[in-house]
Amino acid sequence: MHRRGFLLGCTALGACDSVALARSIEASADRRSGGRSEDVPRAWTRSLLVDPHGQPLKAGEIPERRTLLFHYPFVGTPAFLLNLGRPTRRAVELQTEDRDRYTWAGGVGARRSVVAFSAICAHKLAYPTREISFIDFRADASPASRRRDVIHCCAEHSQYDPADGARVLSGPAQQPLAAIVLEHEPATDRLYATATQGGELFERFFASFEMKLSLEHGDRAMQPSADVCVVQPIEAYCRQLMRCA
Ligand code: FES
Repeated sequence: MHRRGFLLGCTALGACDSVALARSIEASADRRSGGRSEDVPRAWTRSLLVDPHGQPLKAGEIPERRTLLFHYPFVGTPAFLLNLGRPTRRAVELQTEDRDRYTWAGGVGARRSVVAFSAICAHKLAYPTREISFIDFRADASPASRRRDVIHCCAEHSQYDPADGARVLSGPAQQPLAAIVLEHEPATDRLYATATQGGELFERFFASFEMKLSLEHGDRAMQPSADVCVVQPIEAYCRQLMRCA
């Protein structure tokens, strides 16, 4: 992702506070990592994940095979949190559309079953809004999705495997969903979102949906997520879920 172009674009849109904060987070991430590398996750705010009542989410209490939604790494960028109910693979080698390679570490929590990915489809950026979502996790197979335990986008039927780093299983998407890096605190079972990895599409996303995002999130859409992120079932956020089958 061309982060610098994105930041300049934000400046042009007048989101100066967001830009300053994003730039300082980016600079601090670069300092920690010793420079930019496609295989190094990009650090953003370290956000504690909480339930709609403000209580810290416990990894062991996340319902299995349900679509949960939060917004990260920006106030306006949706992400899925999933407890797959089984361990994922570890150290999965993946590649973006631009052929940048990266390694997805796998699920976290006691069972290594909790994962998070950007909910912005890697094809044409379909994403969950308050009105409707064309993309979500499908626990069961259907005539349209055919497979169980996949992330399915009804727009043009791209399908991703969340147990395999959101690798593309079928459909027109050319790269996995960007991964949200989670940190699990074993002593408390709390979860933090800390970084993103893979083919980020936030620049295109903001350019494509600026007006819609400002209606949904006001002038905060492009601001980095706060240090506390509310996680909720997708049904509580979206009025309608497209099932396409
Ligand atoms: S936008 Fe998701 S498959 Fe086209």
